Amino acid sequence: MDRLVVKGDRPLSGSVEISGAKNAVLPLMTAALMVNGETTLKRVPNLKDTRTMIRLLDIVGAGVSFDAGEMKIDGSTVNNLEAPYDLVKTMRASFYILGPLLARFGKVKVSLPGGCAWGPRPVDFHLKGLEKLGAKITLEEGYILAEADRLIGNKVSFDFPSVGATGNIVMAGVLAKGETVIENAAREPEIVQLCDALNTMGAIIDGISTDKIIIQGVEELQSTDLDVIPDRIEAGTYLIAGAAMGEITVNYCNPNHLNVLIEKLIEAGAKIDTSKNSITIKKANPINPVDVTTEVYPGFPTDLQAQWIALMAIASGSSVVKDTVYHDRFTHIPELNRLGANIELRENMAIINGVDHLIGAPVMSTDIRASAALILGAIMARGKTDISRIYHIDRGYEFIEKKFQALGVDIVRKND
Ligand code: EPU
Repeated sequence: MDRLVVKGDRPLSGSVEISGAKNAVLPLMTAALMVNGETTLKRVPNLKDTRTMIRLLDIVGAGVSFDAGEMKIDGSTVNNLEAPYDLVKTMRASFYILGPLLARFGKVKVSLPGGCAWGPRPVDFHLKGLEKLGAKITLEEGYILAEADRLIGNKVSFDFPSVGATGNIVMAGVLAKGETVIENAAREPEIVQLCDALNTMGAIIDGISTDKIIIQGVEELQSTDLDVIPDRIEAGTYLIAGAAMGEITVNYCNPNHLNVLIEKLIEAGAKIDTSKNSITIKKANPINPVDVTTEVYPGFPTDLQAQWIALMAIASGSSVVKDTVYHDRFTHIPELNRLGANIELRENMAIINGVDHLIGAPVMSTDIRASAALILGAIMARGKTDISRIYHIDRGYEFIEKKFQALGVDIVRKND
């Protein structure tokens, strides 16, 4: 099993190019299943999750080619409407095939994802939303079976602006008969990209990037060709590294997607210059303690909570980080404490008492963002940190060790 070995406490310099966004490309790949033709996606990151989604598309019969960041998906050959447990349990985003296949073929069978390392992560909003559009949903041996001759537009109101449920209902609504209105919809840039992409395919979606999305159903969608937006979470992770350890430029990112993080980094003492699609950051010295509460977009992203805690671990005082999106996403805390951090968890709140420095130690990755936090901790720590189970990081960060090496980090992948 691969692990990463980092010798920390060296200054960072240089530039890094951000990859296409994992959480944007996954729903775009399933949206391509709604088209009786070929969709081309560019700047597709070569991630474990992208490759898992390719396997899923392959299982349902779509033709997929992927080379040098360009992916072509042929939706004309789809012939199997089932997403198996083996895949869904390794990647919850497999659930994104629910809306598209149901809307186009009137039937789909998808394994229920089950639990997750940081809580139950239910899918009830997806299912209730599809029922509102007329789907008959049954549970058979751990699988959701959804059926509808043709979905019928309706009002779907979410209790919480779920990213995945919004994506699924948008895709279902696009091919439903009549008007679908989604209230309390997610506004994350990845959902905005999905809606924009669907519009270029012939969908009629209004209210994009607001919490009320209005869709007029169409009979069919056409092929399109588009660039995946830059990954704001990957960009945020490198910015946090820069705030702790040097002066770096993060290229091919969208600073508008990172407003709250940038404000928090400035509050922490970092110097930041932004241009249209790049951000230069100079480290904070000292790092001021800054509280953060995660919220849905445009609030501070839960997907940067772990990395922020890593930065606050060496701040010049105490800070509080609260996660309101997921209440139990803190598996990185005991691992950061192994590096000498002083972090206490109280329900969904981390109390971080900044220490002078971290010290390298063997640690273990537990999920994508927790792993990113451990790499940040290792980069800041004096001595050697050995991070095991890094398959988690390979799900969501393209060429992570190569990108950090280019910034001057002594980081190597080992398999022995
Ligand atoms: N929720 C429900 N019922 C549902 C759906 C969601 O109660 O049917 C709750 C969840 O339990 C959670 C909250 O709503 O407390 C938000 O969940 P959401 O549905 O928005 O999350 P998601 O769509 O499953 C996506 C990202 C996550 C990211 C969240 C929040 C993808 C593939 N995943 O998940 O990304 O944390 O939105 O922004 O887009 C990651 O990249 O590391 C990652 C976990």
